[in-house]
Amino acid sequence: MDFGKKFLWGGSIAAHQCEGAWNQGGKGPGIMDLVTAGACGRPREICSGIVEGKHYPSHEGIDFYHRYREDIKLFAEMGFTALRFSVDWSRIYPNGDDEEPNEEGIAYYRSVAEELLNHGIEPIVTLYHFELPFRLLERYGGWSSRKVVDLYLRYCGTMFRALKGKVRLWVTFNEMNHLDPQTEASDIFTYMISGVKYSGMENPARELAQIGYLMTLAGVKAARLAREIDPENRVGCVFGLTPVYPVDCAPDHVMDAFLEMERQFYQVDAMCRGAFPAYREQEYRNSGILLEKEDGDEEDFRQGVLDFIGVNYYSSSVAHHEGDEGAEETLFGGVQNPYLEQSKWGWAIDPVGLRYTLNYVYKRYGLPVLVTENGLGAVDRVEADGTIRDDYRIAYLERHIGELKKAVRLDGVECLGYLTWAPIDLVSATTGEMKKRYGFIYVDRQDDGSGSLARTRKKSFEWFQKVIEEGI
Ligand code: BG6
Repeated sequence: MDFGKKFLWGGSIAAHQCEGAWNQGGKGPGIMDLVTAGACGRPREICSGIVEGKHYPSHEGIDFYHRYREDIKLFAEMGFTALRFSVDWSRIYPNGDDEEPNEEGIAYYRSVAEELLNHGIEPIVTLYHFELPFRLLERYGGWSSRKVVDLYLRYCGTMFRALKGKVRLWVTFNEMNHLDPQTEASDIFTYMISGVKYSGMENPARELAQIGYLMTLAGVKAARLAREIDPENRVGCVFGLTPVYPVDCAPDHVMDAFLEMERQFYQVDAMCRGAFPAYREQEYRNSGILLEKEDGDEEDFRQGVLDFIGVNYYSSSVAHHEGDEGAEETLFGGVQNPYLEQSKWGWAIDPVGLRYTLNYVYKRYGLPVLVTENGLGAVDRVEADGTIRDDYRIAYLERHIGELKKAVRLDGVECLGYLTWAPIDLVSATTGEMKKRYGFIYVDRQDDGSGSLARTRKKSFEWFQKVIEEGI
């Protein structure tokens, strides 16, 4: 399959974390528009309506909606050859099930794509990055309904047609693999991905199994549709992958780590192997869960195999094991690794884990991989002279890019590109903070909503420019 020879360098952003303009341009409310800011150790509050006096960071984001030209110009100055951005479904179909799409929303994304192309930057579009129209939750209960699968496909079809000839690389979903029916989850995680709060589910294992099935099905149907509308389209799905290491070489521990790691892959298997995995259904049956399937689903899985796999990589963990009571848990399951340092938000820093993950994924599926997210959330200080010396970010990225190069040059991994999260400061998904910054570009926006929104190049800006110049 032809992806072109050019290695893609750039970054990823998501609409609800950067656009703002939450009720402008005909946009309806999306699920994340009802989530307040939290902090490390203080969960974001998920409201059932907008409550006056509460701060909802997505409402203004970093105002990318109005400033995208300025931001894209800065990305181009760094030498980007790709930008992954998400389309917010509620900008295209404000209620999710409207008869006609919102032309203003379509025009906006068309213009973002064109602006990128004018700067020689390949647009990569994520169709769902935690952005379910809120009304679909109210009317149909979100992703537990087949109706939502149909509406998602209609929305995808609208975008495939609207951006035909401009966008060739598509991502169906971001990180739906964090929905694991077998593991207790935090509300914010299940809500971000599916709109449903874990604590509100009557039978979480059953509901999450069905939601996971329907989202996976929606993903393969969308991949099929994309290629029907334009055979030039290449479709991927993005997975948040965390290597899980055994605590030692005791065979039981190795087995436990294997099983814990494997939990992240059933949807990748389903989308890359042309069938929903029988082992997963067996597992469900063992717990008394029967998936509601329909005739035609099997054919969709056969026809909807991905063209590439998007890997979001931040961190690794150690599998739960006997005697780990009291050990510090990691965000995505497992416990902390004593060999690794952590970010201020408790994310273990493990560059080798990136090489490990890329090898694991590529050698398991034989499909090209694209690093769709990698980066360090950190507190930045603006010096008296206005500079931001983010050497810690440079150190983090340098080590990860070093391991990426080993994966490509030494291990033969077919990697399409490397996109950082995020090239510009934006709202944190898990905490809603601004102070958890990832960018090469500083945005003057603080957690209390103050700030001029002005953009400033950090020290890492120039550094990444050189990385791109050097190439892979
Ligand atoms: C990824 C998500 O899992 O992690 C992004 O795709 C998110 O949306 C990123 O922003 C970093 O997480 P956080 O909570 O630090 O913003």
